[in-house]
Amino acid sequence: MTDIEVRLYEESDLERVLELADEFHRELYARFGKEARLEENRGFYQNAYLNPQGHYTVLVASTSDGIEGYIVGSSPMDMPELNMHGPRDPESVSWTEMDILFTTASSRGRGVGKALVTAMCDYVREHYGHEEISGYVANWNEPSLRVLRSLGFDEEAEDSRVLFSKEL
Ligand SMILES: CC(C)(COP(=O)(O)OP(=O)(O)OC[C@H]1O[C@@H](n2cnc3c(N)ncnc32)[C@H](O)[C@@H]1OP(=O)(O)O)[C@@H](O)C(=O)NCCC(=O)NCCS
Repeated sequence: MTDIEVRLYEESDLERVLELADEFHRELYARFGKEARLEENRGFYQNAYLNPQGHYTVLVASTSDGIEGYIVGSSPMDMPELNMHGPRDPESVSWTEMDILFTTASSRGRGVGKALVTAMCDYVREHYGHEEISGYVANWNEPSLRVLRSLGFDEEAEDSRVLFSKEL
C-alpha cells in the first residue's frame, strides 16, 4: 500500500495542480471528441477554485512521486443562494459539495482517490462543522462511482447522473 499524504492546497502547489487540471481537461474533452481549451480552464482554476478569496476548499494528495491528485469542495458557508444543487435541506449551510476529484492516470487504483474523499469529509467536518457532504457523478463514470460506493455514500439515481451523499 502506497503512503499517501493529503493536505490543504498551498500557493506553492499552483503549477502542479494546474498541470493536473490540464490532464483532467484533456482526458474529459478527448472522451467526448472535443478540443481542449486549456488556457480557459487554467484561468477558471486560478480565478475560482484556487483563489484564496473564494469559497472552495482544495486538498492535494501526495505520494513519494509528488502531488498525484486533488479534490475541490464547494462550501457555500453563509451563502446558501450559491448552492446550485442543494443539500437536502435548502436552508442548510452546513454542507459541502464535491465539485472535482482527479488523480493522475499513472497513480490510479492505489487508493489516492479514496484518500482524497475521506480527507475532504474529515476536513469539512472538523473545520467548518459541516454535517453533510454530497456530489454528483455521471452514470458513465465507473471509477468515480466505485470510489464513492466503496466509501459507503448513499446514492440516488437521476437521469444521467447519481447524487451521492453522506452524513458526517
Ligand atoms: C475517479 C478517480 C478519481 C479514482 O481515483 P483512484 O485514485 O483511481 O481511486 P482509488 O484508487 O482510491 O480507488 C477507489 C476504489 O475504486 C476502484 N477503482 C478505481 N478506479 C478503478 C478502475 N478504473 N477500474 C476498477 N476499479 C477501480 C479501486 O479498486 C477502489 O476499490 P476498492 O476500495 O474496492 O479497492 C480517477 O479515476 C480519476 O481521476 N478519473 C478522472 C477524473 C474524474 O472522472 N473525476 C470525477 C469527476 S469530477
